[in-house]
Amino acid sequence: MGRCRTDSLNARTPSRLISACYRHSGDLSDRGYFNPQSQMSTSWLAQRTSEFDSSGIRKVFDLAAKMTDPINLSIGQPDFAVPDAIKEAAIEAIRADKNGYSVTQGIPELQQALQARIDAEYGHADRRVLVTSGTSGALVLAMLSLIDPGDEVICFDPYFVMYPTLVGMVGGRPVMVDTYPDFRIDIEKVAAAITPRTKMILLNSPANPTGVVATEDEIKSLAGLAAKHNLALLSDEIYRDFSYEASPTSPATFNDQTIVVDGFSKTYGVTGWRLGWIHGPSAIIDKLTMLQQYTFVCAPHPLQHAALAALETDMSDHITNYKKRRDLLAQGLHNAGYEFTPPGGAFYVYPKVPSGKGTATEFVTHAIENQLLVIPGNIFSRRDTHFRISYAASTETIERGLEVLRQIGPQ
Ligand SMILES: Cc1ncc(COP(=O)(O)O)c(C=O)c1O
Repeated sequence: MGRCRTDSLNARTPSRLISACYRHSGDLSDRGYFNPQSQMSTSWLAQRTSEFDSSGIRKVFDLAAKMTDPINLSIGQPDFAVPDAIKEAAIEAIRADKNGYSVTQGIPELQQALQARIDAEYGHADRRVLVTSGTSGALVLAMLSLIDPGDEVICFDPYFVMYPTLVGMVGGRPVMVDTYPDFRIDIEKVAAAITPRTKMILLNSPANPTGVVATEDEIKSLAGLAAKHNLALLSDEIYRDFSYEASPTSPATFNDQTIVVDGFSKTYGVTGWRLGWIHGPSAIIDKLTMLQQYTFVCAPHPLQHAALAALETDMSDHITNYKKRRDLLAQGLHNAGYEFTPPGGAFYVYPKVPSGKGTATEFVTHAIENQLLVIPGNIFSRRDTHFRISYAASTETIERGLEVLRQIGPQ
């Protein structure tokens, strides 16, 4: 049978013919080759995809999909509307035909605005910023640029879901430092986890999923430890604006080699816009910029103009509102007898499953049977003993959630 030459296909070739052609290439019979087990395509998957496992969270969302009126306290994004000035800036940029690629490093106005803030805060001569496709984009670039196969990355357990997968994806090995029961950083434990293969410490404060904000002492000693052992310290500060007691400290204050990732997603409620930034020593940022050129190309261009408007927008009312919701949820959980570390930031609480109520997966399954959607701890941890509640929801939803938690909670 003759091979189908793809270079002879053109825009007028009917799509049915194209798919038939592809089905027949390298074929065994006139009817085409259909592998009944679909084994052929799965054998193409690269080894690194074995790192990807979303079965736990998928199970939760599969259950949720069957619910008619869920009390949803599982969401990891703000529930407030994007302020009009920011929306208008995005619309205006699209109307003004700012829809092509931007320069890789970000439009100069945004880059300069971010750089001015960073310079004012740290005053480091060699600190440079790159605008990225979300904080996630910045994390991907950082991992690809800094982690070699076999390198170890110290992460704190519980962790943001992406971390171990990203580390594994580039051939690195996540080394977990357990922070239970109070989710504080024990510097002795971190020091004990350092080996000759350690390349990076990955910090997230305020933290997802615990809501815990690291103290200045914790941050300072971590920054010192990274400097002493010549380790890259990557600080994910995406929840920095959601800090309810005091402004959180960045390790970059104490260690000028710290690499910081941050983003617009949470502060301005624009998770779908995919806008973030990364700042650090210029030699590192230069490499990341090159890598961005060959991967993401640039952050969404018209939205970078809207990001400029975002930087001018005061979000403090929303933050105050979230603080009230935190207090409402924390008080309700306390009254119901749940054990949890008081959260100082982000928009999550991470209570312990009451004794006698099984694993977090079992407890959350029970909560879901009662219409309440929360996330079991094994999504964020090697342990399955806690569950994440998000208070990025209306007070009415939080009250309804608390009602269920009272019913199924400690006796
Ligand atoms: C700790 C943490 N880092 C990064 C991200 C990703 O943020 P972005 O939307 O900017 O990619 C999230 C989102 O949930 C997060 O919780």
